[in-house]
Amino acid sequence: MTTALFNPFAPGFAEDPYPHYRELRDQDPVQDHPMGFWLVSRHSDVTALLRADLSVEQRNVVPHPVRDAMREAAGGVDFRAGGMSMLDRDPPDHTRLRGLVQKVFTPRAIGALEPRITELVDTALDGLAADGGGDLVEALAFPLPFTVINDMLGMPLTDAPRLRELTGLLVRSLEPMADPELAKRVGEADRELCELTAEAIEHKRAHPGDDLLTALIRAEHGGWVLSPDELVAQVVLLYVAGHETTVNLISNGAVALLRHPAQHAALKADPGLVGNAVEEMLRYDSPVQSSRRVTLRPAEVGGREIPAGTFAIASLASANRDERFWGPDADEFRVDRPNARHHVSFGAGPHHCLGAALARLEGRVAFDRLVRRFPDLALAGDVTWNGRINLRGATSVPVSP
Ligand code: HEM
Repeated sequence: MTTALFNPFAPGFAEDPYPHYRELRDQDPVQDHPMGFWLVSRHSDVTALLRADLSVEQRNVVPHPVRDAMREAAGGVDFRAGGMSMLDRDPPDHTRLRGLVQKVFTPRAIGALEPRITELVDTALDGLAADGGGDLVEALAFPLPFTVINDMLGMPLTDAPRLRELTGLLVRSLEPMADPELAKRVGEADRELCELTAEAIEHKRAHPGDDLLTALIRAEHGGWVLSPDELVAQVVLLYVAGHETTVNLISNGAVALLRHPAQHAALKADPGLVGNAVEEMLRYDSPVQSSRRVTLRPAEVGGREIPAGTFAIASLASANRDERFWGPDADEFRVDRPNARHHVSFGAGPHHCLGAALARLEGRVAFDRLVRRFPDLALAGDVTWNGRINLRGATSVPVSP
């Protein structure tokens, strides 16, 4: 038997990557991939990797002929606001940047959003009811997190469709990319989004408001403030992470729920399960499927040694289905799963998702209202997927109320 090789371009992978991850966990759980990275797929190894003292900075990677040739073919560009967001920085910069943002992105600020989130969900569901059904992604899963993060930041929404296009392109930088034309467009989107954000910041400096952008401009923590470039990078991160992920939670979660009528019925019978059901949705179909680290010295993971200067990819999606951790029903969707919250969909360790409480709140309100409002909600056509490997999600979920 030949050992399974991680191949996200294999037919059917984008629709259902889980059988591929199972093979990897069983046959080669810490895989030295010929394309120049290691892939870690078991729950215990993924959590250990994310909690270990590893880097996230790309400059610490040593050259690799295959990976470097692919990068060259894709235009050789580095994106993500110049690597200045906290997601791409190690301590002490990471600690400083995260501390500054955490100071204004507080549980209190998030909790205060619940009435507004409820209002947005109800308006979206009114629209679905009036239309006699439609696409749940266009009606709810996209507009909810998009509007919430726009409101929270106080971003001027003069050109929402353009902003949506730009963030949709920018998140492609988190995917494997071999198309130079696409890489060029992603690079341009990154620059344009940074420019628009810098303009929004300048506008806010002159017209401060009761919003996150104004708070970030003023943020000071331990004697530190954000430099202008750092401010742009943290705002772009919050903006993109604030909706390109939560849209997948709501759309993939709805697909899971509607494809499992007994679980849908269990949630209707006991609406108090909704918080746990959202955790199970996050586990069952991870909105962000992987996280990337760089080893600074040889790292022992799952009995193998990953050499220094190597990309190590933690497959969150695979860990979330590892039967060694979850038991024999790991591939089942169960809204009452007792330990659902132990998923790694928000990562772990120092880069654990800063927006987890906001995403959970949006998910809980959305599914609470959806299930109560439309007890007979059902899929009304084929679900389509966005074809992404990392920020994998449904792009169209036709439903009838
Ligand atoms: C980091 C997932 C929603 C802001 C992360 C990471 C994951 C993640 C896996 C860690 C990445 C790594 O380890 O390299 C998700 C999922 C979400 C979600 C699945 C929705 C279901 C949000 C929201 C926001 C947000 C709503 C903010 C508005 C962030 C930030 C970081 C982060 C700022 C960087 C933390 C750091 O580097 O210290 N997220 N996220 N996320 N997330 Fe989220």
